[in-house]
Amino acid sequence: MSQNKLIVSNWKMNLNIKNSIKIITNMASLNLPKLRNCKNIICPQFLLIPKILEITKDKDIILGSQDCHYEEKGAFTGDSSIEMIKSYNCKYSIIGHSERRQYYNESNENVHKKATILQKNKLTPIICIGESLDQRKKNIHLNVLSKQIVECIPKELKDIVIAYEPIWSIGTGITPSSDEILEVISFIRNFLKKNNFSDKSSILYGGSVNSANIDLIISASKADGVLIGGASIETNEINKILSYFYFN
Ligand code: PGA
Repeated sequence: MSQNKLIVSNWKMNLNIKNSIKIITNMASLNLPKLRNCKNIICPQFLLIPKILEITKDKDIILGSQDCHYEEKGAFTGDSSIEMIKSYNCKYSIIGHSERRQYYNESNENVHKKATILQKNKLTPIICIGESLDQRKKNIHLNVLSKQIVECIPKELKDIVIAYEPIWSIGTGITPSSDEILEVISFIRNFLKKNNFSDKSSILYGGSVNSANIDLIISASKADGVLIGGASIETNEINKILSYFYFN
């Protein structure tokens, strides 16, 4: 792999301490070479982060959180502050995931505020955008995506990581064709350029990524990596996906 690649595991609320340790232990047995152009980023549920930090200290694994709050601190019951996320050495944070948009009414405005506090604290936001099935059917997906980009991404953000995740593909086993992914990834790249966003950007694809479709997704779509849900909590799956990037 010549280009920079980000392989992001989004464990969601799926693992406990025991089975998350198992995944890391099995991953370690792959003996992945240290590659400058591949980043193995794991985003555990908040309560797992301290343990995962402890067991990945000597490994080439980067930690990220699955969300963050946009205020430094305050009366926000149940939320986690940027200070805590930073203190456990997280370098990335997923924001604007469609599950947070759906279940917690996360708005583009909130995502924008989160991206701002992350940049201020030198963490890289992984900003999720994506259209619904209805929007795709109406062929308005590119409009939806451009609105999300404009409203979620601060113009001054230096290191942009966007995860294009069509909502209809998340957890469904259905993926867009590689041409459809290529269309969107190229559109996002051009849109960022035309609208004077930072030229340091990585565009990832997410939605039903697995070991069987990874080659098709990456080689044909020119994505800079993947955001993986379901397959990231299956040892064999995530190990095969990592091997694809590290040994190819
Ligand atoms: P999935 O989830 O890989 O299970 O479709 C992706 C995501 O929600 O980020």
